[in-house]
Amino acid sequence: MRTYVITGGTDGIGRGLGLRFLDRGDRVIAVSSGEEKGRAFLREAARRNAAPRAVFVRADLSTLTGMRGALHEVFAAAESVDGLVFGAQRFRPRREETEDGFESTFALAYLSRHVLGHGLMDLLEKADSPVIMNLAGPGGLPGTVHWNDLQLHHRYTGRRAAMQSSRCNDLLGAHFPTRHPEARIRYVLYNPGFVRTAMADPLPAHWRALTKTLALLFAQPVSKAITPIAHLMDHPPAEPVSAFRRRTRLPLEGKAFDPARAERLDALTAELLAPAL
Ligand SMILES: NC(=O)c1ccc[n+]([C@@H]2O[C@H](COP(=O)([O-])OP(=O)(O)OC[C@H]3O[C@@H](n4cnc5c(N)ncnc54)[C@H](OP(=O)(O)O)[C@@H]3O)[C@@H](O)[C@H]2O)c1
Repeated sequence: MRTYVITGGTDGIGRGLGLRFLDRGDRVIAVSSGEEKGRAFLREAARRNAAPRAVFVRADLSTLTGMRGALHEVFAAAESVDGLVFGAQRFRPRREETEDGFESTFALAYLSRHVLGHGLMDLLEKADSPVIMNLAGPGGLPGTVHWNDLQLHHRYTGRRAAMQSSRCNDLLGAHFPTRHPEARIRYVLYNPGFVRTAMADPLPAHWRALTKTLALLFAQPVSKAITPIAHLMDHPPAEPVSAFRRRTRLPLEGKAFDPARAERLDALTAELLAPAL
């Protein structure tokens, strides 16, 4: 029986993957912030006769307290981790700051993946064929890292914040083998394309209606989107890090995966986290 930790495991793609892993007899620890969705995930697991293999960890992963709490709970619940999936996200039309003073999207969609990925190394390395699956946007919509304003104090839009976190995740994955040269973990950066999920829920009413209509027409259902993701988790490429847009493998080239930029972001992130250590 394999053990999977899935952030954002109570909704959308994360939930779909979690239920698929439960259905095949694996164990799933779903981490997210809402009690209600967590309970619904556990009820669904019970309906599928998988209750003893389903765990819900409630943690607000946009805060350092929540990230530390999630690490603590996972270490308490598992002796090894075969797969770590990063799917927690929330689109924020307006700029918000966390209790630690970070811009919320940066904290949730990038910083928590940095902290949990490095923090769960020891449990992952105990598994036979460990994988980190970082669901973001490699090879997708353009965006950049705002080096002089990482917390987006100026000219904030929800889209800029989401795109910046995607670019940060590209660099996080690209840099992972440099931080852990001996690791057996395979790090997969994955862009699922347009998938019909709760992603549009926080949008203002008119954008939400438009996005949901477009999703009905053009987005994949979760049940279809998760098939290549689950396959990649079972059969990751041999290289320590790889990137995909749906089924297409992307070359780890150019600015998005540039080693010098990856090093720079890692150093900046260490500085941001230093006061909290
Ligand atoms: N859907 C798409 O079209 C699409 C396209 C490209 C990339 N992606 C990527 O795929 C991944 C999954 O997306 P999705 O559309 O499936 O997401 P989703 O349906 O919106 O689900 C997001 C999950 O994150 C959790 N979450 C939100 N805020 C959180 C917080 N502060 N702490 C912990 N958990 C939190 C939510 O539960 P709670 O609210 O209860 O916490 C929920 O379980 C994301 O990384 C996204 O960037 C999706």
